Amino acid sequence: MRPPSRTIILASGSGSNFQALLDDNRQTQALEIVGLISDNPEAFALRRAAEANIPTRTVAFDKTQPRDHFDEALAKTVSAFAPELIILAGFMRIIAAPLVAAYEGRMLNIHPALLPRYKGLNTHQRCLDNRDSLHGTTVHFVTAALDDGPAVIQARLAVAPGETADGLSARVQAMEYKIYPLAARWFAEGRLSMHDGHAILDNQPLASPIIMTEEDLE
Ligand code: GRF
Repeated sequence: MRPPSRTIILASGSGSNFQALLDDNRQTQALEIVGLISDNPEAFALRRAAEANIPTRTVAFDKTQPRDHFDEALAKTVSAFAPELIILAGFMRIIAAPLVAAYEGRMLNIHPALLPRYKGLNTHQRCLDNRDSLHGTTVHFVTAALDDGPAVIQARLAVAPGETADGLSARVQAMEYKIYPLAARWFAEGRLSMHDGHAILDNQPLASPIIMTEEDLE
């Protein structure tokens, strides 16, 4: 058995994905979750961490300061934890290129869309506006371009007639709570890595992400 991966989570909001990772990890102990960092002092994720006795740091974003100020403070706070794995869980700031480079292949994100469709914000509404029949969420390695790194798992659902953005968001999040802990576990078990811009699972480069449906994840 490999020792658990020293892991930090970055979150800006509710932190329900962070909670799912915590809950899953209680059973599997695949991760050693050593800290939670937020850019938002009001984030509910900070309360969840405190409840679980996980150390927290807030690196507040100050609009009056040059952007470098935040990037440097974040990089310093991250490196103080000496993480093997960084999990972005609803972290609403772009990670500056030097920090991405320092943790290449060791930083995961989850984005609520079937990447490469709908990078950025308001993914559920954009999917409805375009009358897509499929929607979902993607776990991917983080690279310098936003929502762009090699995809690992994609959970897909069929958009139902009359679906709302809130309804879609709830269905997507229910799948996120399963696939994000799974991808993190694969990483911790040494099954998942990134090389030459490709996600590698069980020694095979993934030409496309592992696809899961709502039924698979029930
Ligand atoms: C998730 O839906 C995730 O896809 C996106 O931000 C949302 C975060 O939600 N990156 P929560 O804070 O985990 O509840």
